[in-house]
Amino acid sequence: MSEFVQPPQSTVTNCTAQDYEAAYARSLSDPDVFWLEHAQRLDWITPPTKGGEWSYDPVEIAWFADGTLNLCHNAVDRHLADKADKTALIFEPNDPDGEVRTLTYAQLHAEVVRMANALKAMGVTRGARVTLYMPMVVEGVVAMLACARIGAVHSVVFGGFSPEALAGRIIDCDSEFVITADEGRRGNKPIPLKVSVDAAVDEHDTRVKGVLVVKHTGADVAMKDGRDHWYADLASDGDCPCEPMNAEDPLFILYTSGSTGKPKGLLHTTGGYGVWTATTFHYVFDHQPDDIFWCSADIGWITGHSYVTYGPLLNGASQVIFEGVPNYPDHGRFWQVVEKHKVSIFYTAPTAIRALMREGDDFVTAHDRSSLRLLGTVGEPINPEAWRWYHRVVGEGRCPVVDTWWQTETGGVMLTTLPGAHAMKPGSAGLPFFGVQPQLVDAEGQMLEGAAEGNLCITSSWPGQARTIYGDHDRFVQTYFSTYKGKYFTSDGCQRDAQGYYRITGRVDDVINVSGHRMGTAEVESALVLHPKVSEAAVVAFPHDIKGQGIYCYVTLNAGLEGSDDLAAELRQQVRKEIGPVATPDRIHFTDDLPKTRSGKIMRRILRKIAENDHGSLGDTSTLADPSLVDRLIEGRVDG
Ligand code: PRX
Repeated sequence: MSEFVQPPQSTVTNCTAQDYEAAYARSLSDPDVFWLEHAQRLDWITPPTKGGEWSYDPVEIAWFADGTLNLCHNAVDRHLADKADKTALIFEPNDPDGEVRTLTYAQLHAEVVRMANALKAMGVTRGARVTLYMPMVVEGVVAMLACARIGAVHSVVFGGFSPEALAGRIIDCDSEFVITADEGRRGNKPIPLKVSVDAAVDEHDTRVKGVLVVKHTGADVAMKDGRDHWYADLASDGDCPCEPMNAEDPLFILYTSGSTGKPKGLLHTTGGYGVWTATTFHYVFDHQPDDIFWCSADIGWITGHSYVTYGPLLNGASQVIFEGVPNYPDHGRFWQVVEKHKVSIFYTAPTAIRALMREGDDFVTAHDRSSLRLLGTVGEPINPEAWRWYHRVVGEGRCPVVDTWWQTETGGVMLTTLPGAHAMKPGSAGLPFFGVQPQLVDAEGQMLEGAAEGNLCITSSWPGQARTIYGDHDRFVQTYFSTYKGKYFTSDGCQRDAQGYYRITGRVDDVINVSGHRMGTAEVESALVLHPKVSEAAVVAFPHDIKGQGIYCYVTLNAGLEGSDDLAAELRQQVRKEIGPVATPDRIHFTDDLPKTRSGKIMRRILRKIAENDHGSLGDTSTLADPSLVDRLIEGRVDG
């Protein structure tokens, strides 16, 4: 059997294979002309005449720098002329019997204006940072757009992060405003968002002076006089013009984990990000005017920014916003929503596909999926078995699957096949999007040619690229541009085949990808050592059937203390408190020591191999201070 799966002949397409070849070649030979053309997908107040102005040494990146525009205008107001009555958002609540809420572009406009006026009434001004801690509801998207409308910079924090993690992200960008809801709902669990905001703001040294609260579940929450406001009380209908922004004015900050230190606030700007999300959405999802698009990601992640809020709305698309989870009330929920709202393009994470595949085909086939014409995945490598199930069972073999590789830092899709244009290869993301110049290098930075495996770099800038880490440009330079001088280093390992298809093999740094969520091992270690009984901790990944990777923690205790199930439970709780449920350790391995070199460096390679149950290839252990420790660690390995 060929490794390649051909796309169906009938696929409607914005781009044929020939179009792709020509456009890709032109995007490299004449990037400025190419991107200035695509910049015309947006409405500009002052159209740009400049394309990319960038250097990776020193690191300075700008696109369309003499253009001015407003992205909220582009996502909403612009469509009023010809799409006022077109559906923009279809809100599907957590509870299948709950009320569906549909907003046309005209209604979305009215809601965004109300929110923007509420923000102004609370004192938010152009350039101010506004932290969002929201459930997946219409007001989450509306709040992002309202910030963009008045030139404020949104920083969305995923509702699954703890008050401690939220406080850290509020303080880092010196945000004075928070938008939240009384509660969220995910499956059968209420998420106490306002309670968490109170804990973050009251127990930490923040400068928050305004909290806007959307009433969602109606839960009784405490409101602090002078600081907290109900959205309904501050919202008003009066005119609220879109603030003219320079293309390089900040649009948002989004925190993500790295191998060291605290999470980094990646900064994206207005023009380049807008052009990148608008263009990638059009081509990668082959968007047509009648499509019903559904990206199941939360707005707390980059996928929700680029392919819930910005990409679809910049294209005037109709889309589903889903509050719930794939397995509530049962494992057919995704497909029931597809049937109910006649979803034609569906985009989700491999972890969800693997979890649903395990429950059998009946949950899928119980629902009519004839509306589907295109499927997508994002966030982590997809194993060919899960890819084939998604393609064969969910998509009935009719729907192309796009496996899209990208990162918080890249703003939008970088590697993918295009539906209709390219054969697909299960497990491989595929080819570079327009303007993307991937390069594989070996550990010394030597470029690898042809079919090869190495570290994935990108050698030139693209409009959607993050411009800096908020408040710490040196860290931006160090993290991404210093390993291989003059190149953007993705921190991903990658294989390229003879056809030029790229397959991501996973992170090569100390970042774990748990269910498509990035988690820094250093962050989990810092949380563990906060426990008074813990002396040291080392955290590594191990392969996990559903999550892709799981979190394996080696923990040493203070002298005289012994590990126990109760203590392991306390440590899990400790991590949940410091970071949030997304970082809950899967396995805790108490050990009397950690393998170190004689100079005291923890040998993570050995810890990884033991966690992976791959003892045969431990490599050279002779440099260990205590070589006998390895056998004790293998013996004490925690399984399940
Ligand atoms: O390791 C890659 C993996 O997710 C990382 C980026 O995570 P984040 O910034 O949270 O963004 C996720 C959503 C865009 C990458 O460094 N990754 C993302 N997409 C894929 C992937 N790995 C393999 N295949 C993908 N399609």
